[in-house]
Amino acid sequence: MDINLDGKVALITGCGPNIGSGIALALSRYGAKVACNDVSTESIDACIRRIERNGGTAMAAPGDVTDEEQVKGYVDAVLERWGRIDILVNNAALLGGKGVLDETAEDFERSVRVSSLGYFLNTKHVGRAMAEREIRGSIVCVSSSNGWSGTAGVIAYAFNKGGVNNFVRAAAMDLAPYGIRVNSFTPTAPTPDNPELVAAGVTGVLQSPPRSGSPAQGAPSGSGGRATSGGLGGAVGDEPWRRPTRWSGDRAPMVPMGTTGTPTDIGHAVAWLSSDYARLITGTDLVVDGGARARNFAYIPAAAEDLAGPVPLISLDEDDAT
Ligand SMILES: NC(=O)c1ccc[n+]([C@@H]2O[C@H](COP(=O)([O-])OP(=O)(O)OC[C@H]3O[C@@H](n4cnc5c(N)ncnc54)[C@H](O)[C@@H]3O)[C@@H](O)[C@H]2O)c1
Repeated sequence: MDINLDGKVALITGCGPNIGSGIALALSRYGAKVACNDVSTESIDACIRRIERNGGTAMAAPGDVTDEEQVKGYVDAVLERWGRIDILVNNAALLGGKGVLDETAEDFERSVRVSSLGYFLNTKHVGRAMAEREIRGSIVCVSSSNGWSGTAGVIAYAFNKGGVNNFVRAAAMDLAPYGIRVNSFTPTAPTPDNPELVAAGVTGVLQSPPRSGSPAQGAPSGSGGRATSGGLGGAVGDEPWRRPTRWSGDRAPMVPMGTTGTPTDIGHAVAWLSSDYARLITGTDLVVDGGARARNFAYIPAAAEDLAGPVPLISLDEDDAT
């Protein structure tokens, strides 16, 4: 099977250097022209550089996904430049946050707004552009393991990712008559593999587990343990009544295959999901997480040295950034 996205145009929201950039690069390597959205021009420029360095074609689509005029503006700019949009990846989100005892109304609303309004507005305007042109497109909404099960310290993020999961099913019903498919993709704390991030010493949470404190009391959760661009979170109180929300000592990752993978693993899967091979796949979720979500609470994965592990990664970056 040879995934081929030649002639297709993709729009990725929130193309920051981790997952968004990984998906953008993958769609480009499989042949699509890629429009890169973000509120950060630095992230857009870095994503475009990465795509072009690997022989692809990209354009900037700057704007805030929660502002309808800005969404219409960058969608129109892509249509004007390339005449069509075949693939939308709703990826922009605010990571991190706090638990239910500490989250502020303002940050809760801001977090939910980016994933709810942002995913809706982009699906609406790109969906209309696809329907008007009779394009049987693919819309992929990036969810999170936090949308399917509970963890501490990310109450707003968990709320909006849970919403994303049923948004996908409802939007899939709205758009099925037009042949437009809507699915979610669920990453689970991937290890960054963008050469720029690796060069900056950024590693994933599964390789550098936090040694103390709970996510509710420190680093953003769900972000591979790193600070995120524009994410939420921060210190909370230390009153005597507080109880730890998570076990926080040394422990092997509870992932049956030993690793949840990288943005490159995500990119390969999203490219396939956006290709014509997946033409009847709609309203569902694709998860590439080494079995993390499927694991029963009583199942303890074997020690890392006893695992065969996944086959070698098929890299999408042809050369290093530096
Ligand atoms: N990193 C993880 O561990 C992890 C795990 C599961 C799911 N996810 C999901 O994957 C996606 C990408 O995560 P990431 O780790 O690459 O995060 P990231 O913070 O590196 O990237 C998110 C990008 O969205 C952009 N953004 C934020 N608000 C925006 C807005 N209003 N308009 C346009 N752009 C905006 C940010 O500037 C940033 O570049 C998110 O949907 C996240 O919820 C991440």
